[in-house]
Amino acid sequence: MSHPRTVPPRTALSSLHWRVWIDLADCHRGVTGVIRVTGVTGGGGGTACRRTVAGMTEQFSPPPAGKPTSYSRVTLSRIMTAVDVNLYGTVHGGVLMKFVDDVAGASAARHSGGTAVTAAIDEIVFAEPVRVGDLVHAHAQVNWTGQTSMEVGVRVVAERWDSAEDDPIVVATAYLVFVGVDVAGNPRPVRPVLPETPVDERRFREAEIRRAHRLAKRKAIQAHRGTADTAVAG
Ligand SMILES: CC(C)(COP(=O)(O)OP(=O)(O)OC[C@H]1O[C@@H](n2cnc3c(N)ncnc32)[C@H](O)[C@@H]1OP(=O)(O)O)[C@@H](O)C(=O)NCCC(=O)NCCS
Repeated sequence: MSHPRTVPPRTALSSLHWRVWIDLADCHRGVTGVIRVTGVTGGGGGTACRRTVAGMTEQFSPPPAGKPTSYSRVTLSRIMTAVDVNLYGTVHGGVLMKFVDDVAGASAARHSGGTAVTAAIDEIVFAEPVRVGDLVHAHAQVNWTGQTSMEVGVRVVAERWDSAEDDPIVVATAYLVFVGVDVAGNPRPVRPVLPETPVDERRFREAEIRRAHRLAKRKAIQAHRGTADTAVAG
């Protein structure tokens, strides 16, 4: 099937980068909202988010050469509205989960230079309720890379609608695993992430601990079942 494609200006490299990840995220998730991107040389930004992407193969970059952590840093922002609330009048956890998945997907697509799918979401924590009118920002970056998978860390903060001068408060955090895939949906190699700061290095090491626990848990459950079943849940 062919899709309309938005062609970025070839003369503006940062615009090209910005457009690529918007397209990819949008293709998979129907992202809407106000978006700001950081970490690109000559960094771009914008408020658009449109459907697109034909020929996903055109978007893939060749792997190996690593990218610094900052290259994958993405921020997605939006104001919560009445359609986002649960029965108790605060923002529904599922709305925030989609928001988290959206920003993490954009970060993974940017780092890996192509399509990346969500393989697992773990350790999502809702620390504070979010209210209608709050301006919410989701910050994501690739913390760790394996052969074909990436761990993306997400921190969601809210600016309260009725106390705009206060510092944003952390309302949720999460770690997600994304896998770079080719057009057939098979895992493809992703370039390594290169931690730049002591904080990036700490996050990289902690991601390795989480991965080890994840794999150990799966192995223990398989052993308990006495089967080669690889399902994570069920
Ligand atoms: C994610 C997916 C591509 C993995 O395919 P697969 O054939 O099982 O892949 P493999 O077993 O070869 O593993 C590939 C990598 O993914 C990692 N991985 C796979 N499943 C995982 C899980 N549940 N949790 C964490 N990591 C996982 C592996 O550790 C491996 O990492 P590495 O290459 O860095 O060592 C496949 O399961 C899939 O397409 N899932 C559906 C994704 C989806 O639809 N998401 C929602 C919409 S975006």
